[in-house]
Amino acid sequence: MKTFSLLATCILFAAVAAPARAQLSVTFYNSTCPSGVSKVGEVVRSWITSDRTLAPSLLRLHFHDCFVRGCDASVLLDVANGEKSAFGNANSLRGFEVIDDVKAKVEALCPGVMSCADILSLAARDAMVEFGAAGLNWTVPLGRRDGVVSSAAEANSNLPPPFATFQQLVTSFSNKGFTTREMVVLSGSHTVGATRCSTIQGRLYNFSSTAPTDPALDANFAASLKTQCQFGDTTTKILMDQSTPVDIWNKNYYANVINGKVMFQSDDALKRVAAGKTFVQIMRAANSPFTPEFAAAMTKLSQVGVLTGTSGQIRTNCRAVV
Ligand code: HEM
Ligand SMILES: *[C@@H]1O[C@H](CO)[C@@H](O)[C@H](O)[C@H]1NC(C)=O
Ligand SMILES: *[C@@H]1O[C@H](CO)[C@@H](O)[C@H](O)[C@H]1NC(C)=O
Ligand SMILES: *[C@@H]1O[C@H](CO)[C@@H](O)[C@H](O)[C@H]1NC(C)=O
Repeated sequence: MKTFSLLATCILFAAVAAPARAQLSVTFYNSTCPSGVSKVGEVVRSWITSDRTLAPSLLRLHFHDCFVRGCDASVLLDVANGEKSAFGNANSLRGFEVIDDVKAKVEALCPGVMSCADILSLAARDAMVEFGAAGLNWTVPLGRRDGVVSSAAEANSNLPPPFATFQQLVTSFSNKGFTTREMVVLSGSHTVGATRCSTIQGRLYNFSSTAPTDPALDANFAASLKTQCQFGDTTTKILMDQSTPVDIWNKNYYANVINGKVMFQSDDALKRVAAGKTFVQIMRAANSPFTPEFAAAMTKLSQVGVLTGTSGQIRTNCRAVV
């Protein structure tokens, strides 16, 4: 009896710990919406061609969706106290109009078939490929369904803040099934995109009672950031990887971590513990496995906590439950 219940517990645990992953498939829409997947790519590429800064924003939008109730497009819902109003999301997330446009065009092809969650997942991939990320691409298995609940409180407790410590980052990602190495690899996405000056005001001007500027920042780098983000500036946006003038996909983030030239304490934290620094050094090396490991981690991220089968729904408008 004891053995049986232990076994039953293990089976139950395994079922809970591996949510529905195997049920997604790259050919999910082959018969129900054969041109849907390519339509997503076509529409996303036209948006990125006119504003390539939307690519990192769509990548982040997908991440923020997946870490809260799984990749179920809950981040897209316009509801009171929804995920959009969470600390890390308000006045920060971008790209919603891209998803709306894609959804409208896919609905015109195959009404009520392709989920907003699948569209967001494909859009993040297609946007980054169009961004011109050398060698970057990843597989997006399909068949996610859309959630009906969106909660700011859940987003606040599931999304790591920019002042997270190494241990907090490890725990946050491990709660979603990621190893420390995968956490370090996914953090490398901060090699692209921008931050608002408001997010780094504290590190630049009001760090602690003894040090107004975070001493972890390289002194010249801090001086440069202060010229770009004046005291009190909450609106300007600056590139997160300042090592090249044009925003491109590369492994420079990891050298920036080592050199004290990253935007957030959570970035700096990766080198503060040997268990993180080892992976930072590996990703920084000349023969860095960063891009292929990032691609693999994105395919994994895209399947966190997904709804499949008859769970959830297929929205017609990504901002509202049906
Ligand atoms: C490790 C924990 C992480 C923390 C604490 C964090 C925090 C942040 C913060 C505070 C910003 C700037 C937001 C703003 O100022 O408006 C940002 C931007 C960004 N993050 Fe993260 N992030 C993390 C992990 C990730 C992951 C896993 C991804 C993607 C896989 C990601 C992708 C991005 C991108 C692409 C941007 C730039 C967005 C844009 O240009 O619109 N981040 N992140
Ligand atoms: C699904 O469609 C893609 C693209 O048209 C094709 O390459 C693939 O072979 C198809 N797979 C199945 C199982 O029909
Ligand atoms: C990216 O990967 C997808 C899926 O494997 C594939 O259909 C697409 O052609 C790839 N794009 C590029 C530019 O290699
Ligand atoms: C600086 O930080 C302190 C303590 O967190 C806070 O009370 C104060 O309002 C901050 N000042 C500014 C100008 O942001």
